[in-house]
Amino acid sequence: MFLRSVALLFVLASGSLAQNTTYQNPILPGFHPDPSCIFVPERDDTFFCASSSFLVFPGIPIHASKDLQKWKLVSNVLNRPSQLPGLNTAKRATSGIWAPTLRYRDGTFYLVTTLVYDDYPKNSSARFDNLIFTSEDPYTSTAWSDPVHFEFPGYDSSPFWDDDGQVYITGTFAWEVSPGIQKLPLNIDTGEVGPTKNIWNGTGASAPEGPHLYRKDGYYYLMIAEGGTGAGHMVTMARSTSIDGPYEGHPHNPVLTNAGTTAYFQNVGHADLFQDGEGRWWAVALSVRQGSDGSYPMGRETVLTPVTWEEGEWPIFSNVSGKMSGWHIDSAPVVEDGEGSLVDSSFYGRFEPGSELGPEFVHWRFPVEGDYGISKEGSLQLRSSRANLTGSDGRSAEKEGQTFVGRRQVHSLFEFSATFDITALKREEEEAGVSVFLDQLHHYDLGIVMLPSSTKRKLSSSSNITSLAPHFRVRGITTVPAFTSSDLAVTAIPSPWIGQSITLKIQAKNITHYELSAGPLGKKAEMKTIGYGNGLGLTWGFTGVLLSVYATTNGRTGEFETFVSEWKYDGIGQVVGK
Ligand SMILES: *[C@@H]1O[C@H](CO)[C@@H](O)[C@H](O)[C@H]1NC(C)=O
Ligand SMILES: *[C@@H]1O[C@H](CO)[C@@H](O)[C@H](O)[C@H]1NC(C)=O
Ligand SMILES: *[C@@H]1O[C@H](CO)[C@@H](O)[C@H](O)[C@H]1NC(C)=O
Ligand SMILES: *[C@@H]1O[C@H](CO)[C@@H](O)[C@H](O)[C@H]1NC(C)=O
Ligand SMILES: *[C@@H]1O[C@H](CO)[C@@H](O)[C@H](O)[C@H]1NC(C)=O
Ligand SMILES: *[C@@H]1O[C@H](CO)[C@@H](O)[C@H](O)[C@H]1NC(C)=O
Ligand SMILES: *[C@@H]1O[C@H](CO)[C@@H](O)[C@H](O)[C@H]1NC(C)=O
Repeated sequence: MFLRSVALLFVLASGSLAQNTTYQNPILPGFHPDPSCIFVPERDDTFFCASSSFLVFPGIPIHASKDLQKWKLVSNVLNRPSQLPGLNTAKRATSGIWAPTLRYRDGTFYLVTTLVYDDYPKNSSARFDNLIFTSEDPYTSTAWSDPVHFEFPGYDSSPFWDDDGQVYITGTFAWEVSPGIQKLPLNIDTGEVGPTKNIWNGTGASAPEGPHLYRKDGYYYLMIAEGGTGAGHMVTMARSTSIDGPYEGHPHNPVLTNAGTTAYFQNVGHADLFQDGEGRWWAVALSVRQGSDGSYPMGRETVLTPVTWEEGEWPIFSNVSGKMSGWHIDSAPVVEDGEGSLVDSSFYGRFEPGSELGPEFVHWRFPVEGDYGISKEGSLQLRSSRANLTGSDGRSAEKEGQTFVGRRQVHSLFEFSATFDITALKREEEEAGVSVFLDQLHHYDLGIVMLPSSTKRKLSSSSNITSLAPHFRVRGITTVPAFTSSDLAVTAIPSPWIGQSITLKIQAKNITHYELSAGPLGKKAEMKTIGYGNGLGLTWGFTGVLLSVYATTNGRTGEFETFVSEWKYDGIGQVVGK
């Protein structure tokens, strides 16, 4: 007994001393919500994280790291439409892939998640399609299996392997219908489930969800999120010696939250716990970086925090901020395998002829084959869609697709630009441009669009020959009441620029506004600001901003092709507060 306490004291002392690594949050900046992470010694001591992707495709990104700091995109679990055709029938921007849980067991990676049809009634069991994807090679997108579907009329499903090998799912029903954390046995190979049991209701806050079970020191620890994914978000815990309960809540819940503080990192919750190679605990959670005006257009990001968890005790989480201290991790190289780049990489695109778009490029739902290509000259070739970025009703997939491809905004401050060859734009309302895009009902677009030329319109009224000319047009679509607007600016392209390649640029020089500007390729001094978009107009829902290009006929028949070259994304800085 004496020896044991001495050993414990020593562990405690060295434990706190070793929290001497400094690192920066978020570890996965930008649209990377609902994180779930694991450490896999069998795969060369590597950490892997998954995050939610809602309607973007490819989806369910997997990032890997050796040191918890340099995170590389290594694969996308959802990488072929045949895996999940339902993604295109789900309506509303809050639909799609919610909250994956990533686990590793005997050589196999398991990714359990839910495709949510968020426009269905809350009590409809058809609202939730629960899924198990598996892979033995997390570095290759196509190695991820087609999903096994299992019956569970809820979401946030997370697998747990009990001591006897039996797998249980914990999850939650739509809280408006029947709040409470549910547990059910699952055959993880076949998807066969047993009876569902309500095991804990949380501490009484709204929306108990995001459950994960952990086994430690003879207890089942249940960790959940409560309070909703906004300002009241928090992490709470309960434990029991039996998986069925009764679960006893931590006497000092919540174990982690920034609610009620003025911290720059807000909405902290939906956590997952894992141990590193030396057995020390860490948690990941989602958080937003919220400006003083309440805006967070980058959406819910992944943050990391160290956890002290002594034998038989409750875990103690460090509070989440931008500048963190954590357990010492020997400096380690970047993960070598995998398809993508570091999560906060800048990007200078020349597109290699014959190549495909990298795994960082995403579409809104499934891309229409043939609408995207890479030309012999190394440009991205886009064939226009009839639908623009809003589409027919702002919430459904368009039969003929939406020609759109983007990458996540992963820095607070950045410059993004793309250069367009617009010679193919001929008919009225044909438009190609760049967009800072959250979803179909929240986006600011800077387009080059064919519109009647204002000077010639009078002359042609008698002959009815309308003369069209390319214009810059900024449009802002948002449901955030104070910022609802349509055309923010329309201006004819200066005649000396016509016939040249035009560069369109979106930049954030501060954390509240996007500046939209244009100019002829290579002539920096001639760049002209066309308009501004306010980040508050893009602060909505569950996703984060994508910086993107598009081509559309705005509902008219016909199509055109445009070439995008010089795609540049320059990360300029992270604003992380204290
Ligand atoms: C942190 O602590 C570890 C282990 O105690 C030690 O090896 C390492 O050098 C320390 N690092 C710093 C930056 O002090
Ligand atoms: C779902 O809720 C609606 C409205 O409250 C009700 O009319 C309907 O019967 C319910 N359906 C089921 C399957 O419980
Ligand atoms: C959760 O709340 C429901 C409704 O109040 C109650 O019937 C149920 O017993 C509670 N579950 C637990 C595990 O306490
Ligand atoms: C986190 O911050 C809260 C106050 O906001 C404080 O009560 C708590 O002790 C802090 N936790 C730790 C582990 O420092
Ligand atoms: C011009 O076009 C408009 C609508 O397209 C039509 O109503 C009008 O009759 C035309 N005028 C002439 C002179 O052709
Ligand atoms: C951010 O930039 C916008 C556009 O340039 C400007 O209107 C706004 O005042 C700036 N905000 C701050 C806090 O500097
Ligand atoms: C999108 O296209 C529709 C016609 O299909 C049009 O009414 C709407 O103004 C366009 N909106 C945007 C933002 O381009």
